[in-house]
Amino acid sequence: MKHWLRPPRLAAPALFVFAVTSVGAMAQDSGVAHGKALVELNCATCHAIGTTDQSTHSEAPPFRDLSKRYPLDALEEAFAEGIVTGHPDMPEFTASPEQIADILAYIGTLNP
Ligand code: HEC
Repeated sequence: MKHWLRPPRLAAPALFVFAVTSVGAMAQDSGVAHGKALVELNCATCHAIGTTDQSTHSEAPPFRDLSKRYPLDALEEAFAEGIVTGHPDMPEFTASPEQIADILAYIGTLNP
Protein backbone atom coordinates (compact mmCIF):
# COMPACT_ATOMS: atom_id res chain seq x y z
CA MET A 1 0.00 0.00 0.00
CA LYS A 2 3.03 2.28 0.10
CA HIS A 3 2.38 3.65 -3.35
CA TRP A 4 -0.83 5.27 -2.13
CA LEU A 5 1.13 7.62 0.09
CA ARG A 6 1.98 10.94 -1.44
CA PRO A 7 4.06 13.58 0.31
CA PRO A 8 1.48 15.96 1.80
CA ARG A 9 3.36 19.04 0.66
CA LEU A 10 2.45 18.32 -2.96
CA ALA A 11 -1.17 19.07 -2.23
CA ALA A 12 -0.76 22.80 -1.66
CA PRO A 13 0.92 23.81 -4.95
CA ALA A 14 -1.62 21.81 -6.93
CA LEU A 15 -4.41 23.68 -5.20
CA PHE A 16 -2.67 26.96 -5.82
CA VAL A 17 -2.35 26.39 -9.56
CA PHE A 18 -6.03 25.62 -9.71
CA ALA A 19 -6.90 28.81 -7.85
CA VAL A 20 -4.74 30.96 -10.10
CA THR A 21 -6.10 29.55 -13.31
CA SER A 22 -9.70 29.85 -12.21
CA VAL A 23 -9.22 33.40 -10.95
CA GLY A 24 -7.21 34.33 -14.02
CA ALA A 25 -9.74 32.99 -16.45
CA MET A 26 -12.84 34.30 -14.78
CA ALA A 27 -12.05 37.55 -13.09
CA GLN A 28 -8.80 39.17 -14.06
CA ASP A 29 -9.94 42.72 -13.35
CA SER A 30 -11.82 42.08 -10.15
CA GLY A 31 -8.77 40.08 -9.01
CA VAL A 32 -6.63 43.19 -9.32
CA ALA A 33 -9.27 45.31 -7.56
CA HIS A 34 -9.54 42.75 -4.78
CA GLY A 35 -5.76 42.66 -4.44
CA LYS A 36 -5.69 46.42 -4.16
CA ALA A 37 -8.38 46.36 -1.48
CA LEU A 38 -6.42 43.73 0.45
CA VAL A 39 -3.17 45.68 0.45
CA GLU A 40 -5.00 48.92 1.31
CA LEU A 41 -6.40 47.18 4.36
CA ASN A 42 -3.41 45.12 5.47
CA CYS A 43 -0.25 46.67 4.10
CA ALA A 44 -0.75 50.37 3.38
CA THR A 45 -0.16 51.36 7.01
CA CYS A 46 3.55 50.76 6.35
CA HIS A 47 4.12 50.21 2.62
CA ALA A 48 3.59 52.56 -0.27
CA ILE A 49 1.09 50.69 -2.42
CA GLY A 50 0.66 53.14 -5.29
CA THR A 51 2.89 54.31 -8.13
CA THR A 52 4.23 57.49 -6.53
CA ASP A 53 3.47 57.43 -2.78
CA GLN A 54 6.05 57.08 0.01
CA SER A 55 6.07 54.23 2.52
CA THR A 56 4.98 55.49 5.92
CA HIS A 57 7.34 53.00 7.59
CA SER A 58 10.85 54.09 6.69
CA GLU A 59 12.14 50.54 6.20
CA ALA A 60 9.18 49.13 4.33
CA PRO A 61 9.87 48.93 0.58
CA PRO A 62 7.23 50.47 -1.72
CA PHE A 63 5.26 47.70 -3.41
CA ARG A 64 6.18 49.04 -6.84
CA ASP A 65 9.81 48.13 -6.03
CA LEU A 66 9.05 44.56 -4.96
CA SER A 67 8.92 43.18 -8.48
CA LYS A 68 12.25 44.84 -9.23
CA ARG A 69 13.83 43.15 -6.23
CA TYR A 70 12.19 39.76 -6.58
CA PRO A 71 10.63 37.76 -9.35
CA LEU A 72 6.88 37.59 -8.69
CA ASP A 73 7.25 33.81 -8.35
CA ALA A 74 9.53 34.24 -5.36
CA LEU A 75 7.04 36.62 -3.78
CA GLU A 76 4.25 34.17 -4.34
CA GLU A 77 6.21 31.54 -2.45
CA ALA A 78 6.99 33.92 0.38
CA PHE A 79 3.33 34.95 0.68
CA ALA A 80 2.19 31.35 0.69
CA GLU A 81 4.53 30.55 3.56
CA GLY A 82 3.42 33.60 5.48
CA ILE A 83 5.60 36.65 5.27
CA VAL A 84 7.42 36.54 8.55
CA THR A 85 11.05 35.92 7.70
CA GLY A 86 13.13 39.06 7.79
CA HIS A 87 10.01 41.05 8.54
CA PRO A 88 10.24 41.83 12.24
CA ASP A 89 7.91 44.83 12.42
CA MET A 90 5.24 43.29 10.30
CA PRO A 91 2.22 41.51 11.72
CA GLU A 92 1.91 37.93 10.52
CA PHE A 93 -0.31 37.82 7.47
CA THR A 94 -1.66 34.51 6.30
CA ALA A 95 -3.30 34.71 2.90
CA SER A 96 -5.41 32.24 1.00
CA PRO A 97 -4.21 31.27 -2.50
CA GLU A 98 -6.90 33.53 -4.01
CA GLN A 99 -5.78 36.47 -1.91
CA ILE A 100 -2.15 35.87 -2.84
CA ALA A 101 -3.01 35.70 -6.53
CA ASP A 102 -4.98 38.94 -6.28
CA ILE A 103 -2.25 40.77 -4.38
CA LEU A 104 0.33 39.67 -6.93
CA ALA A 105 -1.98 40.68 -9.77
CA TYR A 106 -2.23 44.12 -8.21
CA ILE A 107 1.55 44.41 -7.62
CA GLY A 108 2.02 43.37 -11.24
CA THR A 109 0.01 46.39 -12.42
CA LEU A 110 2.37 48.81 -10.63
CA ASN A 111 5.14 48.08 -13.13
CA PRO A 112 3.61 47.77 -16.56
C1 HEC B 1 3.62 47.24 10.54
C2 HEC B 1 4.26 47.62 9.30
C3 HEC B 1 4.09 46.69 8.10
C4 HEC B 1 2.93 46.19 7.56
C5 HEC B 1 1.50 46.40 8.03
C6 HEC B 1 3.31 45.44 6.39
N1 HEC B 1 4.67 45.45 6.24
FE1 HEC B 1 5.74 44.51 4.76
N2 HEC B 1 7.46 45.25 5.53
C7 HEC B 1 7.55 46.07 6.66
C8 HEC B 1 8.95 46.39 6.90
C9 HEC B 1 9.49 47.26 8.03
C10 HEC B 1 9.68 45.73 5.88
C11 HEC B 1 11.19 45.69 5.69
C12 HEC B 1 11.69 44.55 6.56
C13 HEC B 1 13.12 44.25 6.34
O1 HEC B 1 13.69 44.66 5.32
O2 HEC B 1 13.68 43.55 7.20
C14 HEC B 1 8.72 45.05 5.03
C15 HEC B 1 9.06 44.29 3.92
C16 HEC B 1 8.16 43.63 3.11
C17 HEC B 1 8.51 42.82 1.98
C18 HEC B 1 9.92 42.57 1.47
C19 HEC B 1 10.54 41.48 2.31
C20 HEC B 1 11.98 41.32 1.94
O3 HEC B 1 12.49 40.25 2.23
O4 HEC B 1 12.58 42.24 1.36
C21 HEC B 1 7.36 42.33 1.45
C22 HEC B 1 7.21 41.41 0.24
C23 HEC B 1 6.29 42.85 2.26
N3 HEC B 1 6.80 43.63 3.26
C24 HEC B 1 4.97 42.57 2.03
C25 HEC B 1 3.94 43.05 2.82
C26 HEC B 1 2.54 42.75 2.56
C27 HEC B 1 2.02 41.93 1.39
C28 HEC B 1 1.83 43.36 3.55
C29 HEC B 1 0.33 43.34 3.74
C30 HEC B 1 -0.27 42.02 3.80
C31 HEC B 1 2.78 44.04 4.42
N4 HEC B 1 4.05 43.82 3.94
C32 HEC B 1 2.43 44.76 5.56
C33 HEC B 1 6.52 46.51 7.45
C34 HEC B 1 5.18 46.22 7.26
